[in-house]
Amino acid sequence: MTVFSKAQIKKLPKAELHLHIEGTLEPELMLKLAKRNDRPLRFKNLQEIQAAYQFHNLQSFLDIYYEGANVLIHEEDFFDLTWAYLLRCKEDHVVHTEIFFDPQTHTDRGVTFSVVIHGIRRALEKGKSELGISSHLIMCFLRHLSEAQAMNTLEEALPFKDWILGVGLDSSEVGHPPSKFARVFETAKQYGFFIVAHAGEEGPPEYIWQALDLLSVKRIDHGVRCLEDLRLVDRLREEQIPLTVCPLSNIKLKVFQNMSQHNLKHLLNAGLLAMINSDDPAYFGGYLGENYYQCAHALQLSWQELKTLASNSFIASRMQEHEKNSYLAMISQIVL
Ligand code: HPA
Ligand code: ZN
Repeated sequence: MTVFSKAQIKKLPKAELHLHIEGTLEPELMLKLAKRNDRPLRFKNLQEIQAAYQFHNLQSFLDIYYEGANVLIHEEDFFDLTWAYLLRCKEDHVVHTEIFFDPQTHTDRGVTFSVVIHGIRRALEKGKSELGISSHLIMCFLRHLSEAQAMNTLEEALPFKDWILGVGLDSSEVGHPPSKFARVFETAKQYGFFIVAHAGEEGPPEYIWQALDLLSVKRIDHGVRCLEDLRLVDRLREEQIPLTVCPLSNIKLKVFQNMSQHNLKHLLNAGLLAMINSDDPAYFGGYLGENYYQCAHALQLSWQELKTLASNSFIASRMQEHEKNSYLAMISQIVL
């Protein structure tokens, strides 16, 4: 069988639809910002940080991810973080990205919504003008916090509504079902936000049903546990609800024991609109190109399957139709 090189995978233009900007904080930048902002960090060097990145489930990752985010204080920090991610996008031929940010991770520490979004936004504008990368922002509510806190965050976002495409739901899934936030998402929908939610990463298929029926999501983030419920698979296929799958994340957080056991190929074979994303690449060992590469090898994906995955990323995106169509045409014409 053909073994695809990283250079061949790079030929495919890609969109990234499941990426937490706080999850792109590389250890080097974490140390630099801790020093620049005089923030205590329990890690003294790169080796200590890397040694701590051994996760056994979602929560063990989230504990470190929130700890790392403590070094982000000023607008410039959010700019530097986002700009570094966009430079990595360029390397991987990512031409469009829909980025999650977690306002509550920052506002609960006294960093204002305005500081966070201005820093990110400035980098995204520079990314568009200097790198040709288009983008959208999606703000996520932390599901381990209360409904009232999510509602407050939604209100804080309203002055920046023109900069925010949609709302999502992330953090500790099990024990915090979508139903907890039904009223918040109903309000967000009335404001015209695009709606997504993490569901079926560690949580059961029931949480995916709830995301669809109670939150009216237009995409499911992760969703890999849908295959446990064939009626749910039928629904997702019939409505072509996108699944933003994150393979390296799933391996690092032990959703699957190794890449050859990942169910991505089964999702495609079931006719689902799945694609590859990197989730929190600084913590999970690879950006988008690396996720494609490791899937291609471990799952023995064909060139046609890789093209389908890249095409699905555009189909599921919120780009303008004419832009989507031009990337889809480009992908269809790429030969090895
Ligand atoms: N799942 C839930 N919450 C998250 C994740 C994730 O994969 N990444 C960052 N916050
Ligand atoms: Zn995620």
